[in-house]
Amino acid sequence: MSSRYSDQVLRGLERIIPGQPTSDGAGVRLTRYIGSQSLPELDPFLLLDFFESDDPNDYIAGFPSHPHRGFETVTYLLAGKMRHEDNAGHGGVIEAGGIQWMTAGRGIIHSEIPEQEHGRLAGFQLWVNLPAKEKLCDPAYHEYPKNQIPVERRTPGVDINVITGTTCQGTAGPVKGVVTRPLYFDIRLSSGNSIEESIPPDHAGFVFVIEGEISVRSDTGSDTVAARQLGVLSAGNAVHIESRASSARFLLVAAQVLNEPVARYGPFVMNTRAEIEQAIRDFNAGKF
Ligand code: FE2
Repeated sequence: MSSRYSDQVLRGLERIIPGQPTSDGAGVRLTRYIGSQSLPELDPFLLLDFFESDDPNDYIAGFPSHPHRGFETVTYLLAGKMRHEDNAGHGGVIEAGGIQWMTAGRGIIHSEIPEQEHGRLAGFQLWVNLPAKEKLCDPAYHEYPKNQIPVERRTPGVDINVITGTTCQGTAGPVKGVVTRPLYFDIRLSSGNSIEESIPPDHAGFVFVIEGEISVRSDTGSDTVAARQLGVLSAGNAVHIESRASSARFLLVAAQVLNEPVARYGPFVMNTRAEIEQAIRDFNAGKF
């Protein structure tokens, strides 16, 4: 398969990650794809959790008050409502189709609790690392409901919800100014459709299939990713993705590789052990 442009290098699939069932917070059942034993890190991504249940016992206790320092937490809800509050006086409710991009920076303490006692709750939490020079920046938020996230209808049967980054046709997501220049697209393909997108060569990227099945085509072949699997993209500057027999919905996410040492301890992610110890001291001293 030849590429459309001579300088185009299609990214294939490096690995497929099935995910590891676990629980976090006050007992929220979820599946961990990044930050697990099989994929501890995908620089600059530190963690990707997918949660999905219509049983309140799986989610009702939520994520009570906890700190973060040194990176960004990104919550994208597919179904349900989640209330969040933090020690900087910021709070609100994320609803289905909404995004919260929180830059923890030098420190924040927040809680995330389902704003529902029954029904389906589903969504993602992604942790994106910050470069050393930004780890102690001021905390910041980008928060947008579904109706502020543009949908690019590229062709009939190809829809792209653009959360951050800019598509090759120029649709820009509302989350702007993130230091690792991420792309975060929620893409729907009807049966037999395909999409091609540019991804900067200095970015690491992945796909996560929400529904259906997709094929990621490279110059050497084609690999299938099934629903509830994460596919790690190999090197290159573009992707070509096709739906299979049924329609498909998937996330396409990428961000700039940092190539810096990572020292992590629970909700603190710094570059050195000494910086982790400082984070613990600052948190215990009430400096967050
Ligand atoms: Fe959190």
